[in-house]
Amino acid sequence: MSLNIGEEYDKKGFVVIKNLIDKKDIQKFSEIAIRHDHKSSANKIVDYFYDYLRFLDFRLYPKYFKFIDLRYLVDSYYLISKSKHKDWKMYMSSIYKKTSNSVSRIDSYISKKSDEDILEWHTDQAFGGATHPPEFFGNASGKVPTENINKLFLHITDVKYKNGAFSYIPYSHKINLAIRELINTQVIKYKPFLLLQDAINLVENEHKDKFLKILDDYEIETFLSNAKNALQNDEEFTIECKAGDAVLFNDFGYHKGTAPKISDRIIFRYFY
Ligand SMILES: [Fe+2]
Repeated sequence: MSLNIGEEYDKKGFVVIKNLIDKKDIQKFSEIAIRHDHKSSANKIVDYFYDYLRFLDFRLYPKYFKFIDLRYLVDSYYLISKSKHKDWKMYMSSIYKKTSNSVSRIDSYISKKSDEDILEWHTDQAFGGATHPPEFFGNASGKVPTENINKLFLHITDVKYKNGAFSYIPYSHKINLAIRELINTQVIKYKPFLLLQDAINLVENEHKDKFLKILDDYEIETFLSNAKNALQNDEEFTIECKAGDAVLFNDFGYHKGTAPKISDRIIFRYFY
């Protein structure tokens, strides 16, 4: 167990936490995901209560109405209680700079066995790649978000290259934050940065001189070479995990979910 995960996380944008939960818990998480899975709906994500106070707030109940039953409440309670465990809290506090490390969302989803990649290389909180975000949102601010979310991706099934593993381009969170800051300070004009190719174009072809003012040469070149490799072949960036392992990542870094070609994949996410 490394106490330096905070440092590694800052630098690379992600860390792997081995055996965050044990065998017994894996079984329990798996049962919960299966129990609450929307069997017929296209929306695969199931939301749970993410902190104890929610149990007391009956105004929230309608929002979760379709899931709510005693089982849902008991399961939510269990999922929250896991994140309060001493080891789990220790990991999170080492990466989290604010004084409290509170969970802002807990959800799960089951990806059925398939040949199609779950999502191509992308960053989160990126307007879905809209060309004119203020119009897209019907507001005039046009500011792009600069507060990343730390996402804990807890694997309940084993994942491998070509079978549901998550992939991440190390150091790319810094590049992406730089893009956002240059846009917000109007040093560069807004352009979509949702996809990895968008970022390569902005950094390499359009505004390299401006990026060199806020990032060092090494960071830029490492990003560009990783990004180009990743578009050709993502094997190098695959994070293979056993059930019970978690990947914690900064959602500004470019990442990708690969197809679960051999077996169904079950994931729980905790947002911080
Ligand atoms: Fe994502």
